[in-house]
Amino acid sequence: MKAIAYHKFGNTAVLQTVAEAIPAIQSNQVLVKVSAVSINPMDWKIRKGEMKLMSGSKFPKHTGVEFAGIIEEVGNSNFKKGDEVFGVVKNPMKEGALAEFVAVPSISVWKKPATISSAQAASIPIVGAAAVTMIEKMGDINTNTEILVNGATGGLGMFLLQLLKQKGGAITAVASTKAVEFATRWGATTVIDYTLENVLSGNKSYDIIIDLSGKMGYENARKIMKRKSIFLNPTPKPIEIPISLFKNFFTGKKHVVILSAPSSKNIGVLQNAIDKGLQIEINKIFPFTQSVEAYDYAEKGGVVGKVAIKLS
Ligand SMILES: NC(=O)c1ccc[n+]([C@@H]2O[C@H](COP(=O)([O-])OP(=O)(O)OC[C@H]3O[C@@H](n4cnc5c(N)ncnc54)[C@H](OP(=O)(O)O)[C@@H]3O)[C@@H](O)[C@H]2O)c1
Repeated sequence: MKAIAYHKFGNTAVLQTVAEAIPAIQSNQVLVKVSAVSINPMDWKIRKGEMKLMSGSKFPKHTGVEFAGIIEEVGNSNFKKGDEVFGVVKNPMKEGALAEFVAVPSISVWKKPATISSAQAASIPIVGAAAVTMIEKMGDINTNTEILVNGATGGLGMFLLQLLKQKGGAITAVASTKAVEFATRWGATTVIDYTLENVLSGNKSYDIIIDLSGKMGYENARKIMKRKSIFLNPTPKPIEIPISLFKNFFTGKKHVVILSAPSSKNIGVLQNAIDKGLQIEINKIFPFTQSVEAYDYAEKGGVVGKVAIKLS
């Protein structure tokens, strides 16, 4: 089968199409014929060596964390050949789904909702699970809760805004000019265009701030946090994880690190939200033969929603 692999850390130039054997499955696994893979910032952070502590430096490495496809072979599971599914690889630091076939534990795949495309299904697990985890960490929210989502119209923001809209809450979204319309459509009551206005210079303060851009940071966010408030951080530096836990004892402005993993529970919440109308915007789809172009496009930024690669 064809797969995308790389033999050293670097930019997209290190990505190569390679020929490999179709993986053999173990009894707890299923073999999926991949139809689509969606791109996540995690893919290029691993490839550029920014997550070396977790990924290690052993090559070749593969890329792409989440996929949709058709069950080709089953071990001991309730799936059957031909089922349409979506899922994640077991260890994103060591494996990749951007290949014609992928072998994964059966607990890491779920039935694809019939109402969405394979590219949309392949876009759910990673950012969707993170959005569900964030909402859990927020605790009780109501229409008086002032929530700021910074970087609101990428993959994660798309899910988070719409889940928040279904729950209530006064949402201020920070987005670039061309994404303002999407932020409003997905549930923001106020949208700040970050190319025109610096949210940190405003007078307003928030109960909850979520920074999806990775550019604000907790220390900056403190300036616009209420006395009792939460900063949700999905892009912590390793050192911030223990420090935030310690500092949270002494301040009402809590710094909460988000490390989420797709599970049947949070995927169930997402399937329910999709049934209620959550939209998954696919900004652009590339064929497998243009996987390098797909990553170049996604890594440049300015993408509203997700970028996907289609295999079949
Ligand atoms: N911890 C976890 O479990 C977990 C799970 C999923 C994702 N993540 C991480 O969470 C982050 C968000 O994920 P994602 O998939 O949504 O990434 P994404 O699609 O790249 O979205 C990032 C957003 O930030 C915006 N942005 C860029 N510069 C900005 C600025 N100066 N001010 C405000 N917004 C700005 C971008 O807008 P423009 O492109 O329009 O400029 C884009 O909408 C990534 O770093 C990802 O790795 C963590």
